[in-house]
Amino acid sequence: MKREEFSSSLGFVLAAAGSAVGIGNLVAFPVMASKNGGAAFLIMYAVFVFFICLPVMLAEMSLGRHTRQNPLGAYTEIGQNRAWRTVGWMSVITPFMIAVFYLVITVWIFGYLAKSVMGQLEWLAAPSSFGEFINSNELFVYMAMVIGLTFFILQGGVKKGIEKAARVLMPLLFLMLIALVAYVMTLENASLGAKFFLIPEFEKMTGKVLNGALAQAFFSLSLAMGILVTYGSYIQKDNNIVHAGKMVAGLSLLVAACSGLLILPAVFSFNPDVQISQLSESSISMIFTFLPKIFLALQTDIGYFGASFIASFFFLLVFFAALTSLVSIIEVPVACLMDGKGVSRRTALYSLGAAMITLAVVCALSFGRVEIFSSLTSYGLDSNGVPLNKSVFDLVYDIFYETILPLNGLLLCLFVIYRWKKHNFDAEISQGNDQFAGSLLQKYVNFSLGTFIPVILAVIFVNTVSTIFLGKNLLF
Ligand code: PHE
Repeated sequence: MKREEFSSSLGFVLAAAGSAVGIGNLVAFPVMASKNGGAAFLIMYAVFVFFICLPVMLAEMSLGRHTRQNPLGAYTEIGQNRAWRTVGWMSVITPFMIAVFYLVITVWIFGYLAKSVMGQLEWLAAPSSFGEFINSNELFVYMAMVIGLTFFILQGGVKKGIEKAARVLMPLLFLMLIALVAYVMTLENASLGAKFFLIPEFEKMTGKVLNGALAQAFFSLSLAMGILVTYGSYIQKDNNIVHAGKMVAGLSLLVAACSGLLILPAVFSFNPDVQISQLSESSISMIFTFLPKIFLALQTDIGYFGASFIASFFFLLVFFAALTSLVSIIEVPVACLMDGKGVSRRTALYSLGAAMITLAVVCALSFGRVEIFSSLTSYGLDSNGVPLNKSVFDLVYDIFYETILPLNGLLLCLFVIYRWKKHNFDAEISQGNDQFAGSLLQKYVNFSLGTFIPVILAVIFVNTVSTIFLGKNLLF
């Protein structure tokens, strides 16, 4: 059977940007940037995106387009041994597990969207509501809806499902983001927030901050999750991979930067004396406890209805961003099952869906509802030197997102340069791009992927293992 393809380069760019733009860009990035040096962070982040992430992105896309396979198939076909096949397995199991925790978070967002629409903003803004909500039975109704929608999109296939959803949702997302930024900027004290986000503080650029920035850039561009290998396998042979990769990286960066102009002005208009250092690091508490309070406070200006409208608009924006990311990550194991076992898309979706739902339910019950899932184990150390209690959700997050992601990235670079070999990689990129051969970009991409990028990823990997599991951060 002929492999499905995106209808054009733009189709791929929108789908891949849909994958890249997610909760990371909209919420995690602004919080991280404002706490760690503002514009200085933004500049470093942009450097990482183009000089470290883009080469990895091109490697993933080329590997996919060349083999026309999912990551397991690609590693198996070119690797030709057990070790590389194991790496292939890792790069389909990782997205599967990340999909589980990302699904849970997407369900929370959808729940908050539904509640804002239903006029329950006041309840959402109360301090104990988030804890109650994530442990409610209602959650499973929202979960069923999100799964239904995600699978409906995936069932349509590459062109009529993934690409079509991206073609509708991505332009909407950009417009909604611009509208929200424009609105927030009219609020009192908003410019304080924008200033805070944009004033550079270079002295805050420590090793720890740089490590966090790079990890964030990697996650945000959906690297090392097999997504770009899989989406790459649907790119037409005459499309320009370099051009498409730059567009995706640029769009993701643009959304991250614009989100800073949304979140921080909102925070400052709510409380102009806010101490940024006291804002929580976590985007979860930002979205689910802090922002609802800000939205509710708008009622003095625009009434309860107006405030609920703005809240609904914001949660819809984040939901669209999360949905397109969720679709992309589930497509990896789906493609793997279809390629490897020759089953239909529907069969692949149903069997993976069953496993994924089971795990997502376990994760959703691990916030205190079921004791064994909530206190599964303990490791690492808190600031008092006591081992941290870890739930199933924490475990999935720590192992797959924090630890295995940099490892997968590192192995991918080594695989493309030393196993698949530079000349084959170059030949693949050159199809659809006759200026690549002999260009400075070619030299840079080949050199960086074979040398310092894997070294940097190895440092991140070692430091993450040490920080999370031994409670000792090696960087300053
Ligand atoms: N890029 C997404 C974000 O910024 C991360 C992601 C992509 C997560 C794909 C899951 C799947 O949130």
